[in-house]
Amino acid sequence: MEESIIIIGSNGQIGTELALALRSKYGVERVVTSDIREPSIVAQGPFELINVLDKELLRSIFEQYHPTQVYLLAAVLSAVGEQNPKMAWDLNMTGLLNVLDLAVEFNVSKVFWPSSIAVFGPHSPKENTPQYCIMDPNTVYGLSKQAGERWCEYYFNKYNLDIRSIRYPGLISWKTAPGGGTTDYAIHIFHDALSKGSYDCFLSAETKLPMLYMEDAIRGTLELMEAPATNLRIRSSYNLTGISFTPEQLSSEIKKHLPSFSLSYLPNDPRQAIADSWPSSINDDYAQQDWGWNPHFNLANLTEEMLSNLKQNLETT
Ligand code: SER
Repeated sequence: MEESIIIIGSNGQIGTELALALRSKYGVERVVTSDIREPSIVAQGPFELINVLDKELLRSIFEQYHPTQVYLLAAVLSAVGEQNPKMAWDLNMTGLLNVLDLAVEFNVSKVFWPSSIAVFGPHSPKENTPQYCIMDPNTVYGLSKQAGERWCEYYFNKYNLDIRSIRYPGLISWKTAPGGGTTDYAIHIFHDALSKGSYDCFLSAETKLPMLYMEDAIRGTLELMEAPATNLRIRSSYNLTGISFTPEQLSSEIKKHLPSFSLSYLPNDPRQAIADSWPSSINDDYAQQDWGWNPHFNLANLTEEMLSNLKQNLETT
């Protein structure tokens, strides 16, 4: 069957790069990008203005394109979610339910929806956090992702919807800006290291969080979407690991390239409490066993890639 793919929320950090990857794999015209705003960089290929909360408009887009795959990426992240909890809940939950319903109605072959390490909470094991454990998220973002995971599994069991999901850690990318998360420091630090030679970090020196380079995240997402359905034991969302590091460790790595770089810390940022409630490292045995997940980027090559690509960007703009 010829694929017809819709990405909802394609202007964001993941969507921008996923759209490029899917278009190079399936062809530009087969991948419809959509967002609540016009894209700032206009790419080739079909684009639709969509508010995921507008179910009727969404239905008309499904009618027009009859997608075989849908990627729902429109969401409010952890830090921004805390500023407007009800809005975050509404967008993250109603948006998901609208897409799940339409996917069933239009017989969509596969749906992708991202979850997050934010589904874990203060009583979850901190290190090597397993797929199944106590989960007591205490951010509205985490609540919405955990409830979303339950809904995904429910639609799989009840309606046989082939839904696939990953609990992304902090995603590090140079092509697009992050969107209001707690892990965003690990991107800002590279920009400031190159433009100012210093960075004021909103998380403390020893805050260790799970992270993943975007190239790995996109490859992992495509690998999960291509895996035979019968191999997939998890229809809520897969734990996925890349690397874990603290701001201090990242700073030491940056200093290998920029010896005069200096890092200072801003106290009392509300994102610290969010970070403290999340795991430091993730166990991803299920992803390894079910679809062969294996990250390629470690702290050293991630740092190298980020600095060289951002440097090139700075020089050409
Ligand atoms: N990067 C996300 C955030 O910080 C985690 O899913 O909100």
